[in-house]
Amino acid sequence: MKKAILLTLFLSLVIAGESKPVHKANVPQLGKNSIDEVLKAMTLQEKAELLVGGDYEVVNGKKGPVLPEAKIGAAGMTKAIPRLGIPCTVLTDGPAGVRISPTRKGDSRTYYATGNPIGTLVASSWDTQCARAVGRNMGNEVLEYGCDVLLAPGMCLHRNPLCGRNFEYFSEDPVLSGTMSGNEILGIQSNGVGTSAKHFVCNNQETYRTQNNSIVSQRALRELYLKNFELAIRIGNPWTIMSSYNLLNGPYTQADKPLLHDWLRGEVGYKGMVMTDWTERRNTVEQVNAENDLMEWGLDVQVQDIINAVKDGKLSIDVVNRNVRNLLNYIVKTPHFRHYKASDAPDLKAHAAVAREMAAQGIILLKNREGTLPLVQGQKIALFGIGSYKGFLANGFGSGDVNKPYVVNIFKGLENAGYQVDPDMAELYEDADADINIGPSYARHRASVDNVAIMTIRRNSGEGSDRRNEPGDWKLSPAELNTMKNIADAFHAQGKKLIVILNIGGVIETASWKNIPDAILLPWQPGEEGGNAIANVISGKVCPSGHLPMTFPLAYEDVPSSKNFPQNDNGGVFDKDKSTIGFTKYDEGIWVGYRYFDTFDKPVSYPFGYGLSYTTFSFSNLKVRYGREVCKAVVTVTNTGKVAGKEVAQLYVSAPKGALEKPKKELRAFAKTRTLQPGESQTLTMTFRTMDMASFNENTNSWVLDPGVYQVKAGQSVEDIKATAPMKISKGVQKKVLAVI
Ligand code: BGC
Repeated sequence: MKKAILLTLFLSLVIAGESKPVHKANVPQLGKNSIDEVLKAMTLQEKAELLVGGDYEVVNGKKGPVLPEAKIGAAGMTKAIPRLGIPCTVLTDGPAGVRISPTRKGDSRTYYATGNPIGTLVASSWDTQCARAVGRNMGNEVLEYGCDVLLAPGMCLHRNPLCGRNFEYFSEDPVLSGTMSGNEILGIQSNGVGTSAKHFVCNNQETYRTQNNSIVSQRALRELYLKNFELAIRIGNPWTIMSSYNLLNGPYTQADKPLLHDWLRGEVGYKGMVMTDWTERRNTVEQVNAENDLMEWGLDVQVQDIINAVKDGKLSIDVVNRNVRNLLNYIVKTPHFRHYKASDAPDLKAHAAVAREMAAQGIILLKNREGTLPLVQGQKIALFGIGSYKGFLANGFGSGDVNKPYVVNIFKGLENAGYQVDPDMAELYEDADADINIGPSYARHRASVDNVAIMTIRRNSGEGSDRRNEPGDWKLSPAELNTMKNIADAFHAQGKKLIVILNIGGVIETASWKNIPDAILLPWQPGEEGGNAIANVISGKVCPSGHLPMTFPLAYEDVPSSKNFPQNDNGGVFDKDKSTIGFTKYDEGIWVGYRYFDTFDKPVSYPFGYGLSYTTFSFSNLKVRYGREVCKAVVTVTNTGKVAGKEVAQLYVSAPKGALEKPKKELRAFAKTRTLQPGESQTLTMTFRTMDMASFNENTNSWVLDPGVYQVKAGQSVEDIKATAPMKISKGVQKKVLAVI
C-alpha cells in the first residue's frame, strides 16, 4: 500500500517533469550551478512558489518563516528558496523615491527616503542627464535600504489631462516619455538594482482601473502607447516590466499573450521579467501562458492554481520553466543575490542636493510680463495661498508618495534664498485649515506694506481616482479666482506685481485667468527640496529652462479624449456593462495631445514644448542626414540674451503626403544645451531611428515609411519652429509585423 502511494507520487512527479526536493549537500545552488541545473532540481511546488510573490521562505516545499526583509514595509517580495540558494528579492515603490515604512517594529530609528521631483517635472527638463541623476539618486536608496527593484518609472502617456496619476508619468508624447524614462532607468540601474517600467499598457485612467477595458486601435497602440515602452526598453533595458491592472482590447494585459509574448519578447526582443500590478486572483494559467512571469502581491491559491494546472495537463511544464528561468535570470542580478550588505544609511543630504538641483531644471516659466522675474532681493513679499506654506505639495498621493524626512515649502525656500516674506501672512496661513478667500481690503492692505505678491495654486491627485472637470480642480475655484483678482487689482494699483506659482501634478485650465498675473511659474510638485528650487528660479540663480511635456488646452472639452474619459463611475461615455467590466474607447486614435491641436490648427493656451527663459536663444545651421537605419540632425543654439542659460532643441519631422493621414509634425528627437553664457553657442547632435518615422497601417499590419521629402524642424515648441531642413527618402519601406494586440 505504502509502495503504491510512493509509486503514484513518483509517477506524478515524473509526469510533471519534476524532481523531488533533495537535501543533499550537492544540491544545485543558484550562482554556483547553471540556471538550467537549478531549474532541473526544482520541484513543481518550488517553481510555482517562485512565480507567485510572497514574503516567506519556502522550506520543504512549504511555507516557511516570514523573512526579516518583510519589516522594511516595501510593496512586495519574491520568495526565498534556501535549499537552492535562491534569495528573496524586495520590490519597492515608486516613481519619486523609495517608499518604505519610516518606522519598524522594535526599532527606534527612522528610515526616510528622498522625495525627488515627480516624473512630470523630470520630463519638463527635457534633459536626459536630469533623468539619469534623479534615477541615480533613487537607485542608491533602493540599494542602501536593502531593496532590489524600484517599481518605476511610471510611464503611461498623458492621454487625458485629468488622469489622477499623470504626475507620476512623463508626457503626452512617446518620444519624450520613452527617452526620459529610458534614461531614468539607466540612472536607477547604474546602482546594480532593477526597475519595473509601469504600467504596461494603456492604464491611462484611474477610474475603475482594475476592471476597465481600454479599446485602442492597432495604429494608436503601435505609434503611441507601445512606442513609448519600446523606446524606454531600447534605451534603458529595465530588469522588469509591470503589466497594468486594465484590460486591453479584451484580455487583461497580464494575461495577454500577443502583448507580453509576441510583441514584447518577440518583436522588441525584451529579455527581462514581467510582473503583474498588485492584483487579486485572475486567470492564473492564462497569465503564465502569456509570459507574465511573476504574480504580485501573490496569493497561496495562485501557487495551487499552477500546480493543479500542470498536473491536470492544462499548463505545460515548459511554459512554467520558461517563466521560472526569467525569474532566475532576474534574481542573479539582484543585490540580495550578491549578498550586498545594505547600510540603511544612504547619503540623504547629498541626495537632497541632487533633488533640489534637478527640480530647478524642470521648472517652467509660462509668463513673464516686463521681466517680472527674476525678483531682486530686498523686496518684501506678500505670499498668498496655503500651498505656499504647510499645504505645499512635494508629490501626489498613493504609491507615488514617499516618506520624506522633510519638505521645504515656498515660504521656507524664499527665506532660505534671503527674501523677506511678510511674517503676518505666514502666521495667517499657518493658522488656517484651508485656503483663504482674500477680500479687496485685505489685498489693498498688503499692497500698501509689501512690494510684490506671490500666490500659489495647488492641486493634489493620486492613485485610485481621476481628477474632475470642475472648479477647484481643472478650473480655479471661485475663491481662488476672487483672491487672484483682488491681489492683482490691489498690487497693480500700486504699480506692484503678482506672480502665480502652480504647485500642481497635472494640467489645469489657464486660458481664462492667465492675463491677470504678471508672471506664472510652473514648478509642478517638485519634491522635498521644492521650495528651495523654486526660490532659485525666482531669484535668477537658476535660469528657467523647463518646457511643457504636454499641451495646456484652452478648455477641457477641446481635448479629443474628453469625450470618452470617465468623470465618475457612470458619467461621460464611460459605460459599464452588467458584468462589471467597463470600457473606454480611445476613439481619438493617434490624435493625442499636440498631434491633434497642431494638425487641426486648434488654438491652445500653452503649446507642447513651450517654456520661457530669462535669456533668448537663436537656432542656426540645421543640417540633417538621412541614413537607412538612423537619421541625424545637428543644430547650433546661441544664447542671444543677457544672462547665462540652457535651451532645449526640439526636433520635429513633417512627413510627405502618403496613403495614411498623419500628424502635421511629430517629435522625433531633442537635446538640451549646457549652460551657455551670453553670446556662447553649442552645436547639438540628435539622432533617431529612421523607421521611427513610419506610420502603422492596420490593414496590412505593417509599418510604412513613405518615400518623399521630409521636413525636419528644430524649434522651441511645437508652434515655435526656428529652422527647417529637407530630408529626402527616395525609397519607401514596408515592414510587416506579426502581433495583433
Ligand atoms: C500601483 C502600482 C504600485 C503597486 C505596489 C499598485 O496599486 O498601481 O503602481 O507599484 O501598487 O505598491
